[in-house]
Amino acid sequence: MEVIIQPNKEAVASLAAHVIAKEVRANAHLVLGLATGRTMETLYQGLVEKHRKAKLDFSLCTTFNLDEYVGLTPDNPHSYHSYMRKHFFDHVNIDLRNTHLPNGMADDLDSECVQYENLIKKFGGIDLQLLGIGKAGHIGFNEPLSALRSRTRVKALTPTTIKQNATLFDSVEEVPRRAITMGVGTILDARRCLLLATGEEKADIIAKAVEGPITSMISATAMQLHRHCTVVVDEAAASKLQAAEYYRWIFANEPEWEEFR
Ligand code: GLP
Repeated sequence: MEVIIQPNKEAVASLAAHVIAKEVRANAHLVLGLATGRTMETLYQGLVEKHRKAKLDFSLCTTFNLDEYVGLTPDNPHSYHSYMRKHFFDHVNIDLRNTHLPNGMADDLDSECVQYENLIKKFGGIDLQLLGIGKAGHIGFNEPLSALRSRTRVKALTPTTIKQNATLFDSVEEVPRRAITMGVGTILDARRCLLLATGEEKADIIAKAVEGPITSMISATAMQLHRHCTVVVDEAAASKLQAAEYYRWIFANEPEWEEFR
């Protein structure tokens, strides 16, 4: 795992957009794992800008989103289908036929989950997976006690997650109680992961995820097992990291990061 500390959320998004753009330019057929949430909005703005101003071409990319609520139709404004169109898909030259999100309206949710896993395999696996982090440490909707080897499945959302996501709905009662999410094992299979977190409210959980013991109570700690995971945080989210100075030194000295400094 490597940790990059940036001055603010705009710089976090800009560095992440730069990493993604580099990967897309190196492999036009990149399979991108996408995430939702407020943190990602600034990143998608950055990618849209790169598409408009620097001709970043998504036409041959394939995408798989981490999760979707159960019971929301794709055109429901609170669905992650809608989120993706609003913040990203409608503004770049991605072919919508190459974009995938779990179908939270499927009659047979379990077989939908198996099909989603099979589709990821069919496309050769995820090259670059974007991740946000919930306040309680979930990645995707892998709530506490999610098995570290779990695959795509239906998860009941915890009261903490429901409360956290309620601000995006009209009321807490409207937040679905379940979601389909890639499993922790599915995420760990991605070739590269990029986890973003900004703001003081993420400082505690980032310290636990990066420097704490690996536990299924906090699914983000599983990223310590990943071979190539980059965590990009702003100063506020980094404020409780014990070894922040060491991470800064690495970023300042690793040749790999030269073009990003
Ligand atoms: C939701 C998503 C997660 C995301 C989290 C954090 O729960 N399912 O994938 O990481 O929100 O969202 P935010 O960036 O708004 O804090």
